[in-house]
Amino acid sequence: MKVLVTGGAGFIGANFVFYMLDKHPDYDIVCLDSLTYCGNLKTLDSVMDNPRFKFVKGDVTDRKLVFELFEEEKFNIVVNFAAESHVDRSIEDPGVFLRTNILGTQTLMDAAKEYGVERYHQVGTDEVYGDLPLDRPDLFFTEDMPLTASSPYSASKASADLLAMAYHRTYDMPVTISRCSNNYGPYQFPEKLIPLMIKNALADEQLPVYGTGENVRDWLYVEDHCKAIDMIIHNGKVGEVYNIGGHNERSNLDVVRTILKQVGKPESLITFVGDRKGHDLRYAIDPTKIHNELGWLPETGFDEGIRRTIDWYLDNRQWWEEIISGEYQQYYEKMYSNR
Ligand code: NAD
Ligand code: TYD
Repeated sequence: MKVLVTGGAGFIGANFVFYMLDKHPDYDIVCLDSLTYCGNLKTLDSVMDNPRFKFVKGDVTDRKLVFELFEEEKFNIVVNFAAESHVDRSIEDPGVFLRTNILGTQTLMDAAKEYGVERYHQVGTDEVYGDLPLDRPDLFFTEDMPLTASSPYSASKASADLLAMAYHRTYDMPVTISRCSNNYGPYQFPEKLIPLMIKNALADEQLPVYGTGENVRDWLYVEDHCKAIDMIIHNGKVGEVYNIGGHNERSNLDVVRTILKQVGKPESLITFVGDRKGHDLRYAIDPTKIHNELGWLPETGFDEGIRRTIDWYLDNRQWWEEIISGEYQQYYEKMYSNR
């Protein structure tokens, strides 16, 4: 089996590459990644010399490159992680989100169609369901809910999902989609909540909590997400959407307090800053379908996962210190100085 993993130099894609190489000793993995600001070849250091792994630098919207790669490699399975993924950046500059997340998906699906790929899997997000109210803990996202996007990021991901399903219906393509809740774990770029707060806490810097900090996210340890995708590409039903989440809802303030406690820093570092525009209130996944149909269950609870994640950032300072030494400084200044 040969699997194309796009966006494999990013957070979840890289964890998926590791998971697949380990889990399937007879599979070859090709990673296609254009190495944007958040793609990092250092993340893939440990597999670069693996004869079953190949890295190709390239953009998923580059039709010529993508078609040549499919022609050459004859992939059995495509898993599309490549994306612009940060909501705050999408609010500043939506264009690149539409290009990569929608047109990139189209390009990959056109190539998958042309070369008869056996399974095209689109990695989606729960953000395409909009948000849930804070005072209705009985409500959860199910696969049949209508798509409503709050940010340019989620609009672009919803568009990609619709396109993937349209290709299934129109061209009878073997498509599956997963929609996962917020991930955390090793190698996450320190612009997202958890790694940003760990980094700031370790440096005794302020922890910028948007609005009141009451917003709720449903946190999933990244390896549990990888395991779910592996199950879907092998046993999931073509034309189906699977929600992935492990009932680990936490308010942002809870998450930040947990981090501070674990690294032994005072809560006085918490600083409330201006809210995100269009800020979604609550995400919460109902994972009944993937559990009943594929037997998936998360293995890592939040307390264990956050401990492992903090330990990873403590043990791998060089990985993130290199990141924050470059253009990241300008990003941070722009996003947080006048908030
Ligand atoms: P990430 O931002 O860490 O990584 C994205 C990767 O895609 C990077 O390596 C980047 O270089 C690459 N990339 C970007 N544009 C590209 C292009 N035009 N061509 C080729 N490569 C390109 O993102 P992530 O958090 O790992 O998310 C991966 C996927 O999972 C995304 O599709 C995202 O929407 C989805 N997702 C993420 C979460 C989460 O909590 N992080 C939750 C649910 C779904
Ligand atoms: P984020 O990690 O950007 O993921 P998403 O917006 O895709 O859920 O943000 C998670 C939550 O944390 C979200 O409610 C916004 C909030 N947040 C902060 O309060 N401060 C921050 O500096 C960041 C990056 C996020």
